[in-house]
Amino acid sequence: MKKFTTIRIIALLFLLGAAGYSSEIFGEPAGKDAGGEVYIWGLTATYTGPDELLPGEGKFKKLFKFLPSIRWYDPAHYFQPREIIEGQFAGPECVLCHTVQTPGIVKDWKRSKHSKPGKTKSMKTEQIVACDACHGNDHNKLTMPDVNVCGKCHMEKVVEHKAGGHGRAFHRDVVENAGLIDKPAEEAHSCVVCHGTIENRCDGCHTRHRFNPAEARRSENCGVCHTGTDQYDYETWMNSYHGKIYKTEGDEWDWNLRLKDWSKVGKEGQMPAPRTPTCAYCHMPKGVHNVGQTITADTDKGKSLVDRGAEKYKAKRKKWLKTCKKCHSTRFANDQLNAMDEVVNMSFVKVREAFNIVNDLQKEGLIDPTPEGLAPDWKGHTTFSLNPEGQDRLYNVSKIERMAMDMLAVHSTAIYKGAAHFSMADMTYNNGAFSMDRALINIKDEASKLRRIARLESKQDIKHIPYDFWKNGEFTNLLKGKKRIEGAVLEKKECLHGDTTDCRE
Ligand code: HEC
Ligand code: HEC
Ligand code: HEC
Ligand code: HEC
Ligand code: HEC
Ligand code: HEC
Ligand code: HEC
Ligand code: HEC
Repeated sequence: MKKFTTIRIIALLFLLGAAGYSSEIFGEPAGKDAGGEVYIWGLTATYTGPDELLPGEGKFKKLFKFLPSIRWYDPAHYFQPREIIEGQFAGPECVLCHTVQTPGIVKDWKRSKHSKPGKTKSMKTEQIVACDACHGNDHNKLTMPDVNVCGKCHMEKVVEHKAGGHGRAFHRDVVENAGLIDKPAEEAHSCVVCHGTIENRCDGCHTRHRFNPAEARRSENCGVCHTGTDQYDYETWMNSYHGKIYKTEGDEWDWNLRLKDWSKVGKEGQMPAPRTPTCAYCHMPKGVHNVGQTITADTDKGKSLVDRGAEKYKAKRKKWLKTCKKCHSTRFANDQLNAMDEVVNMSFVKVREAFNIVNDLQKEGLIDPTPEGLAPDWKGHTTFSLNPEGQDRLYNVSKIERMAMDMLAVHSTAIYKGAAHFSMADMTYNNGAFSMDRALINIKDEASKLRRIARLESKQDIKHIPYDFWKNGEFTNLLKGKKRIEGAVLEKKECLHGDTTDCRE
């Protein structure tokens, strides 16, 4: 009996806690956090923020700051050596001491080609590429190598890399994409890791210090970044017949074979070449490091409509057919790619139906909250997010705007990627057409409710003012638009610091 009562009291405490009283009940410490205290459901903690933030780059450097981890993701700008060991060392000395200090790194390096004498086209003589070749000899002035350091010996790879989308992934998509990082540095951290690694470093695909091309040829490599609702590439490839065959046979394939040799018949005794294409096979034909070479048009992850089968893009389509022809008939491949075009076009018919509904509501002033009822954006303005001059914000928007954004950024991109990578399931289920149907219904339902409420309010002569929680709140107050001060965005001439990537128009 006694036990039963105790359980009931505990259950009651939880219910009260869920109603927001947990701090009183559990006698939680109140006040500032970062003191190592545990706060039940975080209810009385106050966020004090990171100790240190580093300035951004270019014209937004005063507005958008980064966590100190940025130094690893854009080392050329941010890496500052610290003084731990005094002295200049030759390669073998670095290796010796680090066999004790960081044995994992030395083990990986010893397994790489860099630990054996070798030569590339950009080099004059054979050499061992030891720690100092990439990090320097003076331990108080160590550097973290970005792509340009690799370029000393692999120039053609760096030139190709920079020419494609990967070459603009950090400076264009993050540093200069003020709209999307309208949020605190803590939330930009993940953008910085994916986008900074891929633009500024070569070890996004050839992890250090092994630097193994075999790793890069596999789809898991690209999958670390090309995954998730906004870029459904790995999932769609895995769910295709190409992925299925990889899953059933991939262990037996020889990943050391160069991409250009994959369609060659193996010699007797040799492990078979991959039978189906991986990401790199299709998007880096023959190992060329420009991943943009095969792409028909830059559509921001498929968020803009383009008819990839149009006459204008015939040459690009022909190249794709050439890739498929190694293993399929041209007619088969052509039908598949034409199907992709039509599947994508149809998904945008739904998107247009939704956007028209939302735009009409906006014109009539029926969206709640109105743009003026929200916190200012990073420009200090309250612009409707779905206007061409607005920003495709995911927060600090009304529910219906966010729903419309999801149709573009989640559903239409999933359908595009499903069709481009031949995943039947993703075109239809998961984030595909069926989910998009639901999204369109939800938008209509929301629009219908907004209109009905507006009619009731006008009958009763009620003037609705958006609630203050749309504009203010512990998290909302951390948005950049709220912190913006006059002169926070620099003029082009003010922000150059010897780097041509700054203040690009
Ligand atoms: C006398 C021993 C010793 C020698 C020689 C030595 N290191 Fe280090 N190195 C260290 C220690 C200790 C650290 C700190 C490790 C840690 O933070 O866990 C370190 C850290 C590093 C780091 C990481 C720096 C950072 O900011 O985190 C790099 C890179 C590095 N060493 C490269 C080199 C190179 C290149 C050489 C040869 C030029 C070299 N080391 C020679 C002992 C040595
Ligand atoms: C071919 C170039 C190259 C060589 C050679 C090389 N490194 Fe590195 N190293 C890198 C790259 C790339 C990074 C990551 C840079 C970044 O994070 O911005 C790195 C990062 C590091 C780090 C810091 C990151 C971590 O994981 O702790 C240490 C420590 C380090 N290297 C030690 C060494 C040592 C010791 C050697 C010699 C055995 C060595 N490196 C040889 C390219 C190289
Ligand atoms: C000092 C010159 C030098 C630098 C700097 C350098 N490399 Fe290398 N790299 C070489 C040499 C030499 C080879 C071996 C070539 C051969 O034998 O085919 C090589 C081979 C490679 C390979 C192929 C390895 C294999 O197993 O086939 C990769 C990948 C690679 N490097 C990546 C990088 C990356 C990434 C960087 C920068 C972080 C870098 N390298 C910096 C000289 C360099
Ligand atoms: C998007 C992934 C990716 C990135 C980023 C990447 N590589 Fe590679 N790399 C590959 C693939 C895939 C191969 C295998 C190519 C083949 O089989 O022909 C490869 C092969 C190589 C090779 C050995 C083959 C050869 O042709 O010599 C070198 C060297 C190399 N990469 C250097 C680099 C350098 C330097 C960078 C930075 C500019 C870099 N890679 C960035 C995917 C990548
Ligand atoms: C059979 C070849 C093939 C394979 C394998 C493949 N893709 Fe694709 N991918 C395509 C085609 C075709 C498109 C549509 C591209 C176009 O015409 O612009 C596409 C589109 C893309 C896009 C969108 C490009 C844009 O901006 O529109 C990305 C990113 C992408 N693929 C990444 C990947 C990744 C990552 C993998 C591996 C998990 C992969 N792909 C595997 C054929 C392939
Ligand atoms: C460290 C993260 C990362 C890895 C690993 C990575 N990518 Fe990407 N990739 C990105 C980002 C970020 C973008 C967006 C850049 C842009 O187009 O502005 C991108 C863009 C692309 C595009 C569109 C390029 C264009 O020019 O429009 C293709 C295709 C692509 N990646 C293929 C690959 C393939 C194939 C691999 C593996 C061999 C790979 N990626 C590995 C992060 C990555
Ligand atoms: C898991 C890794 C990852 C994270 C985290 C990530 N991205 Fe991306 N992003 C990608 C990849 C991969 C692509 C390329 C997809 C494609 O081309 O289809 C991309 C594409 C983009 C593009 C479109 C580039 C173009 O082709 O026009 C922008 C802009 C962008 N990301 C900004 C951001 C911002 C801002 C953040 C943080 C809020 C962020 N990303 C977080 C991996 C990532
Ligand atoms: C390296 C060889 C290879 C390449 C290149 C390749 N495929 Fe495939 N593909 C296969 C194999 C093998 C299968 C499995 C055949 C089966 O389903 O019986 C397959 C299956 C498919 C399927 C599903 C099978 C079906 O009947 O519906 C589609 C769709 C497809 N591929 C489209 C393409 C397209 C389009 C390209 C070019 C963008 C391409 N593939 C490039 C090897 C390849």
